[in-house]
Amino acid sequence: MKVLLINGSPRANGNTATALEEIMKIFEKEGIEAELIRVGNLAVRGCISCFKCYESGKCVFDDIVNEIAPKFEACDGLVVGSPVYYAGANATLTALLARLFYSTRFDKRMKVGAAVVAARRGGLSSTFDELNKFFTISGMPVASGQYWNSIHGGRPGEAVQDAEGMQSMRTLAENMVFLMKSIALGKEKYGLPEREKHVFTNFIR
Ligand SMILES: Cc1cc2nc3c(=O)[nH]c(=O)nc-3n(C[C@H](O)[C@H](O)[C@H](O)COP(=O)(O)O)c2cc1C
Repeated sequence: MKVLLINGSPRANGNTATALEEIMKIFEKEGIEAELIRVGNLAVRGCISCFKCYESGKCVFDDIVNEIAPKFEACDGLVVGSPVYYAGANATLTALLARLFYSTRFDKRMKVGAAVVAARRGGLSSTFDELNKFFTISGMPVASGQYWNSIHGGRPGEAVQDAEGMQSMRTLAENMVFLMKSIALGKEKYGLPEREKHVFTNFIR
């Protein structure tokens, strides 16, 4: 069982990293393989809506997005962490996620998703909601914890002082492990749910 963790922060040892490391400790304890990739320090451009990925199944810009894609395909769970920038996820991360989710054609259903967010003071819930949208449009069940997966801290490392935030991360990780294991059993017993051909409608007069 594998989990991929994506850190949208440019700060290697920032507060998002603190939160994700707390989660990884639980994965290690539970024997879940985990890989953490930091993307916030990279220059990741946004989607240009070229639809080339419709034919190739990969992004026309051959960068970190196409490197992460096979890891995403292989994982049972995805944790996305972001620092809060102006009450939203940071731009590098959203550029990466939009291209990653849009360009990949593989079935994402029943991969468990979890979003965690770090901020000095405000905008945590809106950022959390923003990130969860990637999962809930993709048939990915969302793991939840004891709060809205957030941690407080301004300067790097301050988040360790947020005892409730740190506990929230551990709770989330334990719940996520349970959910991934349960889904693995469910898939074995029942298989994935039937799927209709996707109906696409734009605005109809
Ligand atoms: C461009 C920018 C915008 C920010 N906007 C917010 C904000 O809206 N709310 C807030 O509480 N903190 C804000 N912060 C502070 C960061 O969210 C905070 O320092 C957080 O711990 C960063 O996480 P990191 O250490 O993982 O990078 C902002 C920081 C930057 C650089």
